[in-house]
Amino acid sequence: MPTPEEPKFSEAALKEYQEVLTHYPTRRAALLPTLWIAQREFGWAGEPVQRYVAELMELPLSHVRAVVTFYPMFQQEHVGKYLLDVCTNLSCRLRGADRIVDCIRRRLKIEVGQTTSDGKFTLATAECLASCGTAPMLQLNQDRYYENLTEETTLKLIEELASRDD
Ligand code: FES
Repeated sequence: MPTPEEPKFSEAALKEYQEVLTHYPTRRAALLPTLWIAQREFGWAGEPVQRYVAELMELPLSHVRAVVTFYPMFQQEHVGKYLLDVCTNLSCRLRGADRIVDCIRRRLKIEVGQTTSDGKFTLATAECLASCGTAPMLQLNQDRYYENLTEETTLKLIEELASRDD
């Protein structure tokens, strides 16, 4: 049984990894998508995950660590099931990003950089996410955008996520 300290891909993730390998000329070239699978599978890409991926791909741990630490999309700390990255760059800030951050802080009773005690939500801020025309916005779990946010739509999103069973 895999543990957080000894992660191991599920059969489905292993299959996906093997499929990814067929698209690249070398294993090293497939490192980024493999780390992406690993982060999705384990919820982060910290030291134990880096070790697992290095062994799986027969790559030096130092190389895997260098890639993980270079790209901000890889989480080196545990985050909640729902990672809320609120853009606080200029366009978003001018259109109320601070109010969005504040309403999330108040609703979840956490500060930026913290995770709720039930492990469901992490609140973070982000630099420009290239959606300035629909500011203010946030990114959920690094792959979904919620745009033209108001306090009302933000709280509605949080209620919807909080009520999910998955
Ligand atoms: S400033 Fe927020 S998306 Fe560009």
